[in-house]
Amino acid sequence: MKVLVIGGGAREHALCRSLSLDPDVSALYCAPGNAGIAEVAELRPVDALDGEAVAALATGLGADLVVVGPEAPLVAGVGDAVRAAGIPVFGPSAEAAQLEGSKAFAKDVMAAAGVPTARSYVCTTPEEVDAALDAFGAPYVVKDDGLAAGKGVVVTEDRDAARAHALGCDRVVIEEYLDGPEVSLFAITDGVTVVPLQPAQDFKRALDGDQGPNTGGMGAYSPLPWADPKLVDEVMELVLQPTVDELRRRGTPFSGLLYAGLAITGRGTRVIEFNARFGDPETQVVLARLRTPLASVLLNAAKGTLADEPPLVWREDAAVTVVIASHNYPDTPRTGDPIEGLAEVAAEDAPDAYVLHAGTRREGDAVVSAGGRVLSVTATGSDLAQAREKAYTAVARIRLDGSQHRTDIAAKAAGLG
Ligand code: AMP
Ligand code: GLY
Repeated sequence: MKVLVIGGGAREHALCRSLSLDPDVSALYCAPGNAGIAEVAELRPVDALDGEAVAALATGLGADLVVVGPEAPLVAGVGDAVRAAGIPVFGPSAEAAQLEGSKAFAKDVMAAAGVPTARSYVCTTPEEVDAALDAFGAPYVVKDDGLAAGKGVVVTEDRDAARAHALGCDRVVIEEYLDGPEVSLFAITDGVTVVPLQPAQDFKRALDGDQGPNTGGMGAYSPLPWADPKLVDEVMELVLQPTVDELRRRGTPFSGLLYAGLAITGRGTRVIEFNARFGDPETQVVLARLRTPLASVLLNAAKGTLADEPPLVWREDAAVTVVIASHNYPDTPRTGDPIEGLAEVAAEDAPDAYVLHAGTRREGDAVVSAGGRVLSVTATGSDLAQAREKAYTAVARIRLDGSQHRTDIAAKAAGLG
């Protein structure tokens, strides 16, 4: 099978790494990719938001499957353009990707499907904003309706800050605050059959102890030793299957990866958000634990034959990933700094620990930073404590001027704090 992956972050590096280890995959391409992905896939330049360009590239390569990593191309209809060219795509249509592209649409689908989520109001005027803020009280949760790469959400005790964020957006969703640990649960679906993956936890805040601003995600781990063993079954029944059924009923079937961001509250599990693609950095730990070769699962989802796929097989191992981010992330990050120590990790820590690249590019012989999140250092071990130790050992070998990372990824879950 010839596979083309669209995107160029650590999530796509994790996808490409798994696909490159799959005996069914005879050729692997990634567009545009990054310096790390280049070691497991052939890179091609492309404007990932241009559906016609992606379809032409896939056709030219003779791809049997296109896997779209990020949300922006999906919302822009890249999946539709490739499907129209007759090539199976892992990733939803633009219409179904509105589940991530519009928070108001997601709330509407959840209401229709009876999916538990925070109560909310959609507001477009200052009067509506004031009324909604007062209806819920502090802490205030204010979300830009559109795509904002994890940065459109403000959670604050400060009413003026909440109001200012709301007035800066065209349309906002203001909602009830959900208290409790967060879980990311992914499911692969062809629009009818739904196959859940293993749950993971993401660390959204920039600084240790969940301080600092929201980011795209600073680290993740899986499994979740503290979670109820029935969690996956419960979320399948209450959230994932009803959502897939509702989208099909509306005539906009969702195929690809349905990501449920959940809060485990004292009153039960609630959906915080849906995404229409694999999460980053959770994918790095979930795929590290998946034993089943990935390509046929993704192809069956793309072709509507997921029911034919045998049950997924998981490793007993735990996995931890730690994101190394550039100076000043998540504000305007500094780029162009050389990254050193990659060869040392490959020599000393592989195969249990390895570096997945996010924002990197090659400059002559050097690999330099090219984005906010630069690397996602991933490790597996017999339990979370061992996986985390291996991940941080590898992190310590990496040198990137001004870089930052959290030191407490998976610490609490490993019983360390
Ligand atoms: P989102 O982009 O919707 O995932 O929001 C980003 C982060 O904001 C989430 O991971 C949560 O930490 C936080 N958040 C979003 N919605 C809520 C909510 N209703 N209650 C509490 N925290 C929330
Ligand atoms: N890790 C959060 C996300 O992928 O949206």
